[in-house]
Amino acid sequence: MMSQALDELARHALPGLAFTPGRHQLPAAQFHTDQADARLYLHGATVTDYQPAGQKPVLFTSRAAYFDGKKAIRGGIPVCFPWFSTHPTDPDAPAHGLVRTKPWQVTATTQTPQGPRLELATNLEHLHAAIHLTVGSALQLRFIASNKTTTPQRFELALHTYLCVGNIHQARITGLEHADYLDNLDHRARKTQDADPITFTSELDRVYLDTQQDVTLHDPTWNRRIVVQQTGAGSTVVWNPWIDKSKRMADLGDEEYEHFCCIETGCIADNAITLEPGQSHTVDLTLQTK
Ligand code: BG6
Repeated sequence: MMSQALDELARHALPGLAFTPGRHQLPAAQFHTDQADARLYLHGATVTDYQPAGQKPVLFTSRAAYFDGKKAIRGGIPVCFPWFSTHPTDPDAPAHGLVRTKPWQVTATTQTPQGPRLELATNLEHLHAAIHLTVGSALQLRFIASNKTTTPQRFELALHTYLCVGNIHQARITGLEHADYLDNLDHRARKTQDADPITFTSELDRVYLDTQQDVTLHDPTWNRRIVVQQTGAGSTVVWNPWIDKSKRMADLGDEEYEHFCCIETGCIADNAITLEPGQSHTVDLTLQTK
């Protein structure tokens, strides 16, 4: 399905929310209010930018990211659904599911007390997905999956959030102490986080399980904390590709690993969700700076 044309999207414009051509003319929703600026591409419903007024950017998007309307955008909040990483049975299926490379449809816009809200949706064969993005002094992203069929449907999800940091060598993450995780760099071996904050000294790629608590990215370089709050998701992925993997990635600059880490909110492995026919599941993600 093609992206909706900008003239068709114009009827959804609100004060503080316009539809404009983004990079390479891809249709995008541009938020601009007293509280914050943000941008979402209809391609993948990918939020690429969020910047509260007077602050540095919260979301990292690579300067080498593709904006070709085909590949996933490297940065922001790509949506991985209905599977995370490789497909459970089909090795030829794309990594991280089907919807981060699909054109999503705008279904509604509303003005809320927090700021403008944009609602989008996309359909897969068995599942329907919707996103509600509200831009204010916090960024609120709601993801809703619904089972359209007459049989149970299992899915995984990751809201694959790339967060800016001043310097990865100084950054640390709290909130995941003592949590079990699957180590993607060790054949998904199950391990337990110790009592210390997570720091970055080499490639790190972990799926933390049964995590309901807030997770905080501490950034002493920029004198800022980013708090990641969620409901409805049980997993938190922490990822930084470090030096060698960055060099292998065509859509990431060689030095850019120093300026982001991913804290992904989702439902992965043991925390995957099975929807009964007609049932829906909602995940709420909030990003707030302190
Ligand atoms: C992370 C995975 O979520 O996404 C990593 O844990 C992966 O293993 C990374 O490398 C990026 O994936 P992709 O498909 O966007 O290159």
